[in-house]
Amino acid sequence: MEEYDQFAKEYASGTEDLEQKTRNHFYSELPQLKGKLLLDVGCGSGHDGAYYASRGAVVYGLDVSEKEIAMAQQRACGVFVHASMESIPYGADMFDIVTSFYAIQHTEEVAQSILEMIRVAKPGGLIAILAKHPFRNLLESYVNDGASDYYAKRKVTSYIFNKSIKLIENGHTMMDYLAPSVLRSASLELFEEHTDFPASDQVISGLTYPTYMILKYRKLG
Ligand SMILES: C[S@@+](CC[C@H](N)C(=O)[O-])C[C@H]1O[C@@H](n2cnc3c(N)ncnc32)[C@H](O)[C@@H]1O
Repeated sequence: MEEYDQFAKEYASGTEDLEQKTRNHFYSELPQLKGKLLLDVGCGSGHDGAYYASRGAVVYGLDVSEKEIAMAQQRACGVFVHASMESIPYGADMFDIVTSFYAIQHTEEVAQSILEMIRVAKPGGLIAILAKHPFRNLLESYVNDGASDYYAKRKVTSYIFNKSIKLIENGHTMMDYLAPSVLRSASLELFEEHTDFPASDQVISGLTYPTYMILKYRKLG
């Protein structure tokens, strides 16, 4: 069973409020959506898909959790399919925009997943990703798992929503997001680091550190 199948409803209700500020930040980085064909990768219960549809996008979404996809389908705002980001079930050069909000940190294959997003984007298309920052991974693995090597490929224990949900995610480094294979296929247009975590979920209180990052790639060609 996929991890989010275990707490799909709890995640969907928790995320409605807590992450809205971060979502608004992400939305503000997107271009005009009217008439654009958009794929949301790791779409969860379709919260963002509903917003994109309300702005006029033609929305597709995929997620590896069947329960999250079932909730997204209930919104009736797009085409939501059960699939994984490492192998996207669409042909090349199809979407104007590919988005992914707080999902890519789950994969063991960051570069492969970004390459898949680039593959299905049209030439000149935008790939906009908001991801958990590797610094947060490092701090969480140090505090929650007693691990101390930034470079080691590791599972990271993470707590969210006032510690009501425990997640096991994959550790990443910045190099995963800036892999040569990715930068050969797309140019990096934007890289930003930000902090959004509520104090109750901070791994080391009093320390200010980046918890998420936004990357925008433009497909070459
Ligand atoms: C933190 S949630 C974010 C969901 C959604 N983007 C949102 O913001 O509401 C992460 C999502 O990534 C999905 N996910 C995890 N691994 C995945 C994979 N390999 N391929 C596609 N989706 C995946 C999970 O099932 C979950 O719905």
